[in-house]
Amino acid sequence: KTLTAVVEHHAGALLYRLGGADVVKRIVEAFYRRLYANERLLLFLHDKDVISLRAKQAAFMSWLFGPPNQSYSGKNLRIAHLRLIKQRGFSPEDFEVGLVYFADAMRELGSPEAIVSEVMSKMRPFKDVIFTPSARDAEEEA
Ligand code: HEM
Repeated sequence: KTLTAVVEHHAGALLYRLGGADVVKRIVEAFYRRLYANERLLLFLHDKDVISLRAKQAAFMSWLFGPPNQSYSGKNLRIAHLRLIKQRGFSPEDFEVGLVYFADAMRELGSPEAIVSEVMSKMRPFKDVIFTPSARDAEEEA
């Protein structure tokens, strides 16, 4: 192994520290399996196209497991969840359940607790983003 490879392995993107794209893919699968097994969450997901949902999530995941200190440049997550909030009562408690499922999915695939915490601290701030009313809400609902 080159020095660069070793340094990247230890200090680089979570993706590599977790064991690469295949492990991340399996984490995401385990996460979705949990979401869809929850009857209440199914209320929000039953009529959504899993394939397109997964494709959208892919951009988020590549940020989540990508190099540190970068901001998420994907679609505004309040806008993405707004209809679920307004029309179906998607709540902060539901989101918390999602976070727990993600952490559990990571543990299932053998992620160390330190990395699970690191990922949770990147995901948790989106709870406020998603559930805080914004001036753009009206525009989206129109
Ligand atoms: C998009 C549901 C939790 C991040 C979506 C969409 C649905 C959904 C239905 C697609 C909206 C559309 O049709 O465009 C749920 C449910 C959750 C949950 C039921 C249960 C807890 C989370 C969590 C995160 C997250 C914990 C991580 C912060 C995203 C992202 C997108 C998305 C990144 C794609 C945004 C885009 O680019 O369009 N979610 N979500 N969701 N959700 Fe969630």
